[in-house]
Amino acid sequence: MAELSVRTAGFTDSVIRRMTRVANAYGAINLSQGFPDFDPPHSITERLAGVALRGPHQYALTWGAQNFREALAAKHERFSGQKVDANKEIVVTCGSTEAMMAAMLSVVNPGDKVIVFSPFYENYGADAILSGAEPIYVPLNPPDFGFDGNVLEAAFKKGVKAVIVCNPSNPSGKVFTYEELKLIADLSKKYDAFVITDEVYEHIVYAPYKHIYMSTLPDMKERTIICNSLSKTYSITGWRLGYVIADERITDRIKKVHDFLTVGAAAPLMEAAVAGLEAGDDYYEELKAHYTHMRDLFLKGLSDIGLKFTKPQGAYYVMVDVSPFGVKDDVDFSEWMARKIGVAPVPGSSFFREDIHDYVRFHFAKSDEILNKAIERLALLQEKKYR
Ligand SMILES: Cc1ncc(COP(=O)(O)O)c(C=O)c1O
Repeated sequence: MAELSVRTAGFTDSVIRRMTRVANAYGAINLSQGFPDFDPPHSITERLAGVALRGPHQYALTWGAQNFREALAAKHERFSGQKVDANKEIVVTCGSTEAMMAAMLSVVNPGDKVIVFSPFYENYGADAILSGAEPIYVPLNPPDFGFDGNVLEAAFKKGVKAVIVCNPSNPSGKVFTYEELKLIADLSKKYDAFVITDEVYEHIVYAPYKHIYMSTLPDMKERTIICNSLSKTYSITGWRLGYVIADERITDRIKKVHDFLTVGAAAPLMEAAVAGLEAGDDYYEELKAHYTHMRDLFLKGLSDIGLKFTKPQGAYYVMVDVSPFGVKDDVDFSEWMARKIGVAPVPGSSFFREDIHDYVRFHFAKSDEILNKAIERLALLQEKKYR
């Protein structure tokens, strides 16, 4: 038989999705894969019902329906203060997942180096392989997930084409400060690199932290490629609606890559999701309040049972330090937790490039009932001996 491709031979199953299968197999509470267990806003689902009868049901413009891009531009300007041309500077994609892939394929040549902060969202590894990029990892050091500017500059000095900045960050919950973004921005200008941002958690940021858009820093609009999505902001991870915002020179290329990758995002879903993009400020305030509530409830539970963790500043994950349980192999420990404790996390090592096995990641976009039940079960960690 003919051989399969060398490029993808190293791909492993997504650890996160594997932990979902493990959770299902043992009937464990699944705090591994990050999706909310509550409904999207009513305005969106109501509009979807109408769209089912009215349409559109055929292809939209490949880079996104006009009214959807205009709503995206208006919403982006409302929050970032930065004007975006809906016709020239936005490409609608199938989730931020495709946005990142299209961005990488559009700027990276095989062999080009791309900086990735570690721990990182696992898709960036696959994106690098598919685009032929060589990732240069810069550690975000636990427990506070800061980085060393000298290490970052040393990475830039290797001649990088782009740096990926996930802000707010999955899995660490880090929200980059202005000073940190400024440092990355200054280096990207000094060494002439693109900055590809992943801002899918822009609206899930806990006080007193604030989301700052990299593209709004001085002279950064022309070299920043924003990858973003409606998945998290409107609790519609299954709709696969994402987008890129960048200068026309870049979106011109991304439009073509996107056209050949997927042709376009789902026309009826774009039409329905416009209702979300038009939501008033109160929607985002309630979203933040809801996530703050879930975070506080879950973190209090973790504290009460004596677990150590880094308090997330944004996104909906928490990294828990499991080294006090004598963990050497966090993958084994995570599966043991699903089996014996009844709560499934993601082994932290799947996010780190470094040899770090001290963490597991939980997500907490769940109802009070599920979170309370998870805490009740996690309390058993102190009784049931691991190995
Ligand atoms: C950092 C980050 N980027 C992108 C995604 C995927 O976004 P989308 O559903 O828009 O493809 C996720 C999903 O968990 C994520 O955590």
